Amino acid sequence: MSDGVTNISLDDDLARLRGLDGIKWSRYPDDVLACWVADMDLPTAPAVAEAVRALADRCDFGYSFAAMAALPQAWHEWLSRRHGWSPGAEGIRLFTDVLQVVELALWAGTEPGDGVVLLTPVYPPFFGCITSAGRRVVSCPLEPGTWRLDAERLEAAVTGGLEGGGRVSAILICNPHNPTGRAFAADELTAVAEVARRHDLLVVSDEIWADVVYRGARHIPFESLPAAEGVRVVTAFAASKAFNIAGLRCAAGHIADPVAEAALAALPGHMLGAVSTPGAAATLAALTLGEPWLAEIVAFLGDQRDHLAARVTAELPGVRMALPEGTYLAWLDMRAYDLGDDPAAWLLEHARVALNPGPDFGEHGQGFVRLNFATTRAVLDEAVDRIVAALR
Ligand SMILES: Cc1ncc(COP(=O)(O)O)c(C=O)c1O
Repeated sequence: MSDGVTNISLDDDLARLRGLDGIKWSRYPDDVLACWVADMDLPTAPAVAEAVRALADRCDFGYSFAAMAALPQAWHEWLSRRHGWSPGAEGIRLFTDVLQVVELALWAGTEPGDGVVLLTPVYPPFFGCITSAGRRVVSCPLEPGTWRLDAERLEAAVTGGLEGGGRVSAILICNPHNPTGRAFAADELTAVAEVARRHDLLVVSDEIWADVVYRGARHIPFESLPAAEGVRVVTAFAASKAFNIAGLRCAAGHIADPVAEAALAALPGHMLGAVSTPGAAATLAALTLGEPWLAEIVAFLGDQRDHLAARVTAELPGVRMALPEGTYLAWLDMRAYDLGDDPAAWLLEHARVALNPGPDFGEHGQGFVRLNFATTRAVLDEAVDRIVAALR
């Protein structure tokens, strides 16, 4: 990439990163390398930055609905063109963030005390989305190592009963999957759809990572599956992970569930707030002008992934890393090094590298760490050097 950042020297790069306001590089002391939260250390697409800069240059911060009005159609075209799913602009609503869609769907489409299935290990805030709404987490572990979904285990999780009674009424999936990087295959998603149909479950599909998928794999939107026809589904998506604009707070959802739709329609008009003008303008620029940049960045991230995997194989023989098909996250099994349940704590202290602790991701998280490789080659190599040296 010719952005002047991906091949920058380590010292210049760290000076740049430590000058940013984001939590990624400001949470830990200056001698720590930040490879944790899912923000990229790379810039966004020039067209996206330009859209925000143009607003600032004009001081154009008054009420405006121009970009917001154009976004549903832009999303519809993006999803149709890139993922073969044509939900229709009229069914796409804007939200401030993806977790808002997830929480709203669970709150509106399930009852207090209901069970919600999670495919663990999984993105930690999902647990709070369920419990803070008074619903209960039902873990359905993916197959350790391959991280495939096991249809029988899913059926058992749904029908296994809840302590003190009650029913499972929803499955919350994340596809592509954080932290394992799986882009679920049609047979796995079909199994979810069939279980949902059999037991009248709501499926909430968080597809925030849809556009970070590597060669050889494919993102399949859950709702695009023939088997999902007639299943109650809420899908959440955003440009934030692929275009590195999470701070701009602009997401979208497709509510294919009459119960959730009715609950949403009954809410007071301003209860959910609205996306900001810069967030909408940036997302619109990403969807209409950002595709060539995205192709380059995903190719670069694929190289980062392969480079990390090659170094892990050669220099960290005790670490097991399944090659992620999507996301810029590597889910590393460090159990062979006997660092306890939380190797991230040990590595923070001894390698001065900040990773996400595996136990936060639920069942099958003990002994694992999550590493974000969306950084420059210099930072990634320094992080691996430090981990190798600490473990030696
Ligand atoms: C799977 C998943 N869902 C949701 C989010 C958060 O999205 P938002 O900030 O739009 O709520 C993330 C952030 O990394 C994520 O990985």
